[in-house]
Amino acid sequence: MSLGAIKSGLPLAGVALRGCGSALPSQSLSNDQLSGRVDTSDEWIRSRTGIRRRRVLGAGEPLQGLAAAAGRAAIAHAGWSADSLDLVLVATSSPDDLFGMAPAVQAGIGADRAVAFDLTAACSGFLFALVTAAQYLRSGAMRRALVVGADQLSSWVDWDDRRTCVLFGDGAAAIAIEACEPEQDGLCGFRMRSDGRRGAVLQLPRQSGDEPLVAGARWQPGGFSPIHMNGQEVYKFAVRDVPALLRELLEETGTDAASVDWLVLHQANQRILDAVAERLGIPTDRALSNLAEYGNTSAATIPLMLDEAVRDGRIRSGHLIASAGFGAGLSWGAALMRWQGPGNVPA
Ligand code: COA
Repeated sequence: MSLGAIKSGLPLAGVALRGCGSALPSQSLSNDQLSGRVDTSDEWIRSRTGIRRRRVLGAGEPLQGLAAAAGRAAIAHAGWSADSLDLVLVATSSPDDLFGMAPAVQAGIGADRAVAFDLTAACSGFLFALVTAAQYLRSGAMRRALVVGADQLSSWVDWDDRRTCVLFGDGAAAIAIEACEPEQDGLCGFRMRSDGRRGAVLQLPRQSGDEPLVAGARWQPGGFSPIHMNGQEVYKFAVRDVPALLRELLEETGTDAASVDWLVLHQANQRILDAVAERLGIPTDRALSNLAEYGNTSAATIPLMLDEAVRDGRIRSGHLIASAGFGAGLSWGAALMRWQGPGNVPA
């Protein structure tokens, strides 16, 4: 099928992954520094999570600026101009503006032709956004999309709660995708799940407020409570449901685990990465990990990991990547992708 046929509305164009980029806050916070604030230690955090440090946005560093920088790096990597983009989809749970952060990101990139909107699915956000953007390309409605994952959970943790504050960091990363011939399809399959019944184990809930407004009417002031998490339940969810979904995806696509070059999982905890890889029968050295440096950057972890591994030459053109995101909702999703972009070219 030609791109002409795609434009005329015929379905089933392929989706090619063409470029990646990332941007991180300049401020880095070590476990030792955190132990100056809460009763914790480098030893506890490293042995239970694998995290050594995380990046935190400081004064004058807005998340939208980080997201735009990641987006610019991804389109430069793909060799595209900003005005060739049709869509800027920003996965975030911590936007600078509750009305949506994506238009500011679009403006920061200079993607004037693109429609831009946010998608919220917590730590599954990037994966859900990638699959969503891919549908516009598959259908022929759009040709080029930028999928950004960006989060600033440092604004929403209770920095005095040692059970949660040690886990998270800030970051942004993006992937540039475009419609291609079906034979070159790089999104080989996907699966997505939600289970609101278990949602209470990980939430960033709206604060309950109740104030008098006028005679006979009341209103609820806006605001959110800090992240609330039952760590053990989230852990059990991740090590049971994520490998099960990935296994279904591998079966459905007729893919042998041995042919997966890299496992790129949401970076939440090293023990979760190892357990998922083990349950799938994939050697743990093929489960990419960078959470020692960045902690859990929520929607940014998967593209951040992809970008790092593409640029240092571990992921090469033609490599098969099994990816999974999971988190609040509960939500979880998996995708099987073939990288087709360039390697480490100057951004
Ligand atoms: N430093 C020191 N001690 C800590 C601590 C910290 N940062 N956080 C918790 N503890 C303490 C607890 O208070 C508890 O002490 P107690 O027994 O005296 O009450 C003890 O360590 C064990 O707590 P527990 O919650 O059982 O630890 P755990 O082994 O389950 O590890 C997590 C906690 C959070 C690391 C782990 O549950 C986890 O990674 N869960 C998944 C979380 C996640 O990935 N969330 C994001 C998903 S997108």
